[in-house]
Amino acid sequence: MTNSSRYDILFEQVKIGPVTAPNRFYQVPHCNGMGHRFPRSLAKMRGIKAEGGWGVVCTEEVEIHPSSDITPFNQGRLWDDSDIPALQLMTDAVHEHGSLAGIELVYQGLAGKNHYSRLPTFGPTNASVMGGYPMQARAMNKRDIKQLRKWYRDAAIRSKKAGFDIVYTYAGHGLSILMHFLSRTHNDRTDEYGGSLENRARLLKEVLINTKEAVGDTCAVALRIAVDELLGKNGGGIQASAEGSDIIAMLAEIPDLWDVNISSWENDSQTSRFAKEGFQEEYTKHVKSLTSKPVVGVGRFTSPDTMVSQIRRGVLDLIGAARPSIADPFLPNKIKNDKLETIRECIGCNICVSSDNYAAPIRCTQNPTMGEEWRRN
Ligand SMILES: Cc1cc2nc3c(=O)[nH]c(=O)nc-3n(C[C@H](O)[C@H](O)[C@H](O)COP(=O)(O)O)c2cc1C
Repeated sequence: MTNSSRYDILFEQVKIGPVTAPNRFYQVPHCNGMGHRFPRSLAKMRGIKAEGGWGVVCTEEVEIHPSSDITPFNQGRLWDDSDIPALQLMTDAVHEHGSLAGIELVYQGLAGKNHYSRLPTFGPTNASVMGGYPMQARAMNKRDIKQLRKWYRDAAIRSKKAGFDIVYTYAGHGLSILMHFLSRTHNDRTDEYGGSLENRARLLKEVLINTKEAVGDTCAVALRIAVDELLGKNGGGIQASAEGSDIIAMLAEIPDLWDVNISSWENDSQTSRFAKEGFQEEYTKHVKSLTSKPVVGVGRFTSPDTMVSQIRRGVLDLIGAARPSIADPFLPNKIKNDKLETIRECIGCNICVSSDNYAAPIRCTQNPTMGEEWRRN
């Protein structure tokens, strides 16, 4: 068997709601320090990944409203129509190579400090903002919640105008208000948005449905969710074996795609010292067993044999990758063209993580051109 036939399964198309991914290689959302300030550099970087064979190329977190501004971190921004052209640079660059473009809409809630906009931060309950900063978030009332749903809807419509094929609802990493509502660790409301799991999941479900109604005719709607907060049985958070499963079962067929990971970020992007390739398998597989929709999972995938094995064993449908796509934007094409020995493998050193958010764009020990594509191609 030649390599290419052995790996043919990786190059099968996958239908995701109304769109079709050209293959199973899926660059999951990752920030990079270019964000809204360097849209041309960013578009060039994402375009190179599409050129390298990634069938789906996503943005990083993209803020939907100034009341959830995460300055000084430099991520995407879609506050109003004037942000559309900058994002369109990316969708054009990705479409040029026949790939799909995905956008991760985020409202950070308790994790947003609004240093730039200076607006008050919202949360499910009155609480200190996250990250050890001495600021207070205000509990949302019903009017605020209605407004927030409209902001999500407006951002979804703007995403479609910018040319995105996949629009995310994001409840991961403890960095989204939708997850703050979900988790008992942040939500002690006593109205219909607090208490039982059904109530805590209400806002997430509403936003998901509103997004589908707004753009679901032509865009796929993905749900990125942390199925386990890894806080243990007594930690009060979401556990895959308990509420994590119940949430998936409750929403199973609503999104067109499940993008599964674990929280918080340090558990999700674990270094190679602590986690081996495919380390999230048990979580991804569990979600796959609860839904008929396609599932994308992550786990620092660099070996095509591991990828094939995960698909054949029914763990996932799409090979999600952040770090491996940073280390080698041409990874899919190298597999396709039998050039395995030239793959630059992610070594899980996480220098990307330590540099992705600040004024200096992302770096990678395996790929010196990362963040400099605009200059060096
Ligand atoms: C540099 C970097 C930035 C990231 N930024 C985001 C982000 O903006 N939104 C998000 O949902 N996940 C983000 N992640 C998490 C990844 O999407 C992914 O879930 C995680 O890294 C595990 O996948 P991997 O093993 O393929 O890297 C980021 C990861 C890295 C390495």
